[in-house]
Amino acid sequence: MIIAIDGEASTGKSTQAKKIAKRLNINYRDSGAYYRAITLFLIQNQINPKEVIGSDIFSKINISQNFENNIFSIFLNDEDVTSKIRGHKVSLNVSEYAKKPEIRKFVYNLLRKSSELNSIIVDGRDIGTVVFPDADFKFFLFAIPEIRAQRRHREINDESIKIESIEKEILIRDDIDSNRDIAPLKKAKDAFGIDVSYLSIEEVFEKILQKIII
Ligand code: DC
Repeated sequence: MIIAIDGEASTGKSTQAKKIAKRLNINYRDSGAYYRAITLFLIQNQINPKEVIGSDIFSKINISQNFENNIFSIFLNDEDVTSKIRGHKVSLNVSEYAKKPEIRKFVYNLLRKSSELNSIIVDGRDIGTVVFPDADFKFFLFAIPEIRAQRRHREINDESIKIESIEKEILIRDDIDSNRDIAPLKKAKDAFGIDVSYLSIEEVFEKILQKIII
């Protein structure tokens, strides 16, 4: 079984995907975390998003994800980068790197490989449209920007960062993600859309679960 959860930034996709993975006892992959880890590597190695990333560079990038006991971790060349990839610098630059066809292909291959042997739930932007157009269940989460910014602000838990600047960053990211040529952020025709603006985590979870367990 393959479940795709796509949607706008900060709509709680990964929270829901993890809850479903736990409930159904299936694997979980956070596709955004792959893009973030690659971005971290490229920034650290001063590789500009305008450069073509060759196979020599990809051969130096080894990423693995793990979801166990309800805890998600991601490793970049054996370093646990779970927190690092959520930093401001990565968030600010990830969409520019995620536009690149060679990076998308790299992540596509990682995700397709993860689904070969096991049931899986994956969250992202193009999971139901491009990576798993054949998914058994597809969801698309969206919410008004103000509420998404409040959510992210609570998550970051740093009063020195203004909600307005978070909202701006989210909107810039959505704009780049939605308007890129390859695999843009958009709802698959057969995805079930959920406006999460005024729903609690549990309410969204129930809506998703209802569709899967009939
Ligand atoms: O889900 P996230 O906010 O951690 O994702 C970070 C960025 O990665 C997002 O702004 C765009 C990119 N991304 C993507 O292009 N395709 C995906 N399937 C998932 C994420």
